Amino acid sequence: MFSLKDKVAVITGGGSGIGKAISVLFVKQGAHVHIIELNAEAGSQVVSQIEADGGNAQVHAVNVSDQQAVVEAFEAIGKIDILVNNAGIAHVGNVEKTAEVDFERVFNVNVKGAYNCLYAVVPLMKANGGGAILNLASIASHVGITDRFAYSMSKGAIYAMSLSIARDYLNDQIRCNSISPARVHTPFVDGFITKNYPGQEPEIFEKLSKSQPIGRMAKPDEVAALALYLCSDEAGFITGCDYPIDGGFIKLNN
Ligand SMILES: NC(=O)c1ccc[n+]([C@@H]2O[C@H](COP(=O)([O-])OP(=O)(O)OC[C@H]3O[C@@H](n4cnc5c(N)ncnc54)[C@H](O)[C@@H]3O)[C@@H](O)[C@H]2O)c1
Repeated sequence: MFSLKDKVAVITGGGSGIGKAISVLFVKQGAHVHIIELNAEAGSQVVSQIEADGGNAQVHAVNVSDQQAVVEAFEAIGKIDILVNNAGIAHVGNVEKTAEVDFERVFNVNVKGAYNCLYAVVPLMKANGGGAILNLASIASHVGITDRFAYSMSKGAIYAMSLSIARDYLNDQIRCNSISPARVHTPFVDGFITKNYPGQEPEIFEKLSKSQPIGRMAKPDEVAALALYLCSDEAGFITGCDYPIDGGFIKLNN
């Protein structure tokens, strides 16, 4: 079960955190993985790790916000069975603390980046007889999170984008779903704690861990396991769905 043998998977932001865990697991399950990364160095390190374990992967130094670069990279790959729209960036602040430049930066990566990859992949998947798409949403797509104005809007867009794609391409055998993690312990989390709460890192880490009723953050490997299921043929009856992976955050925080 859950074999990805002979499948070609494109993972955006595969150089770090959740995308790295998904890339490593998908290769282990037999996929040929293409990592789309802004940070080519980080992507190359993941590829080296995969190759050292006997696997097969490639990195493409591409900014997902750049439509032409995305289309060229995807067309060069050619046959794509799986797309994981994972690249994303954070911003902390309510609307008053969200400058136009912050808003645009977050939307350019989280929303336009995902759209660009969908725009590039759908014609290829249609020509190939179908495919599986997984988008990284967030608990912020579903519930109000303090001080995450731009980020939450961007993840709400991901949720709606997934439904739109799932509906439009039902007859093309393209499935599209999303995952909504609560806090996952990745460099993304460490980065925004350091940037936004200097000097308070241990307390904030503890607070963020406890905001999941289960008492800790998720591990990237746990998110990768759900991604594997949703992108595998075993999930062939699942489309237009969102899966929280949240340690009880949405339903048990009372
Ligand atoms: N970590 C969490 O707590 C959490 C929770 C919910 C959702 N998510 C979502 O999961 C996804 C991955 O998060 P993570 O924690 O692994 O992040 P991360 O920062 O560890 O990794 C993100 C990767 O995306 C790459 N990237 C950023 N901008 C890019 C661009 N313009 N083009 C190409 N690549 C780009 C980065 O270089 C990095 O390697 C994001 O979409 C994030 O919003 C994360």
